[in-house]
Amino acid sequence: MSETAKISIQGVETELPLLVGTENEVGIDISGLRAATGAVTLDFGYKNTGSTTSSITYLDGEAGILRHRGYSIEELADKAEFLEVAYLLINGELPTKEQYDAWDNEIRRHTLVNTDIQNMFDAWPTGSHPMGQLIAMISSLSSFYPESLNPNSGEEARMRTITRLLAKMPTLCAMISKNRIGHPIIYPKNNLSYVENYLNMTFKHVTEDYELDPVFVRAMNKLLILHADHEQNCSASTVRLVGSSHANLYASISAGVEALWGPLHGEANQQEIEMLEAIAADGGDAQKYIDKAKDKNDPFRLMGFGHRVYKNFDPRAIIIKKSADEVLEKLGVSDPTLEIAKKLEQAALSDPYFIERKLFPNVDFYSGIIYRAMGFPVEMFTVLFALGRLPGWIAQWREMMDDKQPIGRPRQIYTGPVSRSFTPLNERG
Ligand code: CMC
Repeated sequence: MSETAKISIQGVETELPLLVGTENEVGIDISGLRAATGAVTLDFGYKNTGSTTSSITYLDGEAGILRHRGYSIEELADKAEFLEVAYLLINGELPTKEQYDAWDNEIRRHTLVNTDIQNMFDAWPTGSHPMGQLIAMISSLSSFYPESLNPNSGEEARMRTITRLLAKMPTLCAMISKNRIGHPIIYPKNNLSYVENYLNMTFKHVTEDYELDPVFVRAMNKLLILHADHEQNCSASTVRLVGSSHANLYASISAGVEALWGPLHGEANQQEIEMLEAIAADGGDAQKYIDKAKDKNDPFRLMGFGHRVYKNFDPRAIIIKKSADEVLEKLGVSDPTLEIAKKLEQAALSDPYFIERKLFPNVDFYSGIIYRAMGFPVEMFTVLFALGRLPGWIAQWREMMDDKQPIGRPRQIYTGPVSRSFTPLNERG
């Protein structure tokens, strides 16, 4: 294979180096393009643009492969603890037993949040969306830990900021859900694991005992792992871009949560359940909604369907579907929305519109059904996505900082008016 790509622009020819990744992905390094030719590239939605090199996650959308640091998502979801995967993503290797115990212990010791954070809840109108609250909460951690403001203040301070955020995130998420229903919060219990602690803070009532169900704990652990990282998606790219200005970690991550909130990204899990409920309320006719999704004059899309990179199947969706069946069976729940989801999936997978466009159920298609069966309100679904994605965002931020990448600052092709002279207001018609 040639080591360079040749490009000729308006008579100026240049050779650009090729970059080959460890999985043989080929990229053209265009960093010298503008200096050599005066031209820039244009790629709306970055469909062909690699924004970075990265050794965190490998994804082959055609083959349905997802690996973190070389380990398959299937194996991680089946065998690992969420905090082990977090360690792997952030530090590059699986922890030894000793490293894991130290990591787990450090995170357990930082689960409490300052009571002033609790007072912030008084400011939100009842019923305000949890994602808005989460964004503000994460960002406000920088006020409580001012040493985090300088992300270049050394490895020890940086790791403290990272473990603090990992430790406090479940507490914040649970506080948000308690506050939504006007119930007193449940404090963290540090003898519980990360996942158990989160479930306990979310579902326990101050007045009653709460028994952790191992099926739920396992399902939650798996769901968090399945969301833990997904290379350069919209929110991870946002975290990198914001972090590249050397904004602090809390600011960078809260920006990632903002990006996740969009219905084309993380909020698809909320919208997908709302869509299934609307179809059920409308008589359960899946075909009617398939036809709507195909109609170019109708803005309706099948939520939980389609993906920018997966063009055969989303491996996460396959694992989640199995988990959904287990949780629903354990609960003895027959959820009518699951039946509709299955009908939609069958109808879409055999429809030429979806086949031609390679549209398949994505991770959000079944996750909402499990979350709902477990008792999470629909508005919390995207918060759960954020809780799972946190280690991935941190790993992406850390890699970008360690690589000393320059501030992200894309170019553009200007299409506005050319130079013209200003007419004073009283002379304009
Ligand atoms: N329902 C109906 N048609 C669709 C859908 C859908 N869900 N998704 C894509 N299409 C069509 C689209 O109209 C276009 O058709 P045409 O070629 O005739 O114009 C074609 O498929 C390609 O779609 P696109 O919008 O150009 O593809 P994209 O890569 O820009 O968008 C996507 C990917 C995920 C935003 C999109 O598939 C979508 O909106 N899906 C629904 C929202 C969703 O489930 N998002 C969660 C993604 S997975 C979780 C995550 O990581 O965020």
